[in-house]
Amino acid sequence: MTAEPLEIYLEEGDLLRALRSDVRTGLTAVPKWLPPKWFYDARGSELFEQITRLPEYYPTRTERAVLAAHASEIARTTAAKTLIELGSGSSEKTRLLLDALTARGSLGTFVPFDVSVSALRQATAAIAADYPGLRVRGIVGDFTRHLDRLPTGGRRLVAFLGGTIGNLLPAERAAFLRTTRAVLERGDWLLLGTDLVKDPGLLLPAYDDAAGVTAEFNRNVLRVLNRELGADFDPEAFAHVVVWEPARHWIEMRLRAGTPQRVHIPALDLEVGFAAGEELRTEVSAKFRPGDVDAELTGAGFATRRRWTDGRGWYALTLAQAA
Ligand code: SAH
Ligand code: AVI
Repeated sequence: MTAEPLEIYLEEGDLLRALRSDVRTGLTAVPKWLPPKWFYDARGSELFEQITRLPEYYPTRTERAVLAAHASEIARTTAAKTLIELGSGSSEKTRLLLDALTARGSLGTFVPFDVSVSALRQATAAIAADYPGLRVRGIVGDFTRHLDRLPTGGRRLVAFLGGTIGNLLPAERAAFLRTTRAVLERGDWLLLGTDLVKDPGLLLPAYDDAAGVTAEFNRNVLRVLNRELGADFDPEAFAHVVVWEPARHWIEMRLRAGTPQRVHIPALDLEVGFAAGEELRTEVSAKFRPGDVDAELTGAGFATRRRWTDGRGWYALTLAQAA
């Protein structure tokens, strides 16, 4: 089967409006910040794929190993008819779930959902070609705004993999989990990937690789602002900075101005100054303790049914049910 045309809930105009609003809010705040979803234009999505293959970036391969070990059990337990994947990206690891669910014969529809049109186009085409019996309905949307557009009915399994939930701030995370629960029926399933708290000696290199790919990914957000808003950032004038915040148990990625910068953003009629050494926060990536995951899921109306981790306890997959 060929993939169905993408269902687009974020037209170019909406995206630009949201970008303008986020950039005005974030770059006029003290300290300055930007939401991480703006990394993922075509180049950013490609850089993220490169990150997943770096020796230092353990989350993707660790999650893949946990999924490989337990996909059959997930398929048996959920018997899902519809698999919805939020922040699906390339959906590469998701093939393990698709294999297990199609082998079991329950799955009819796969719904990858992502803000990145380019990632979604490639993923839907590749998956439709490789899973001929499957209906593939790609949705372009923002999982902090458009969850009410998800397909209803059937036994649904929502997968949110890669640790992407950690890129939401705590209040956004709570709202995201509550909204996800609200759009599900009692008995539907959530499969949640979370990176776990570990030695900063392992965490920091995962976000500051020797080849500099993560630094390029980080600076890519400035290139997006230059292209979309006509801004005149000099990306090379900003250093890639990675910090472990032990009190919040998250990694922060920042961009630090090496020298004073004046940036013009014509689309916002805004001029932004950076002092030498001033930092712009571009991402948080929260790391969890398993008990935190349970508390947050319970608070949102889910019941944890199973949890699997890798042998080193670096990464967890939690299977929860809408209670
Ligand atoms: N799930 C994949 C990709 C993770 S990268 C994996 O595990 O490897 C994070 C993905 O989430 C990207 O594809 C990005 O485009 C998407 N994303 C980030 N913020 C989003 C948002 N607010 N709404 C929808 N998708 C988002
Ligand atoms: C998508 N997300 C879970 C990645 C992470 O690890 O927080 C994004 C990323 N940022 C830097 N490297 C990878």
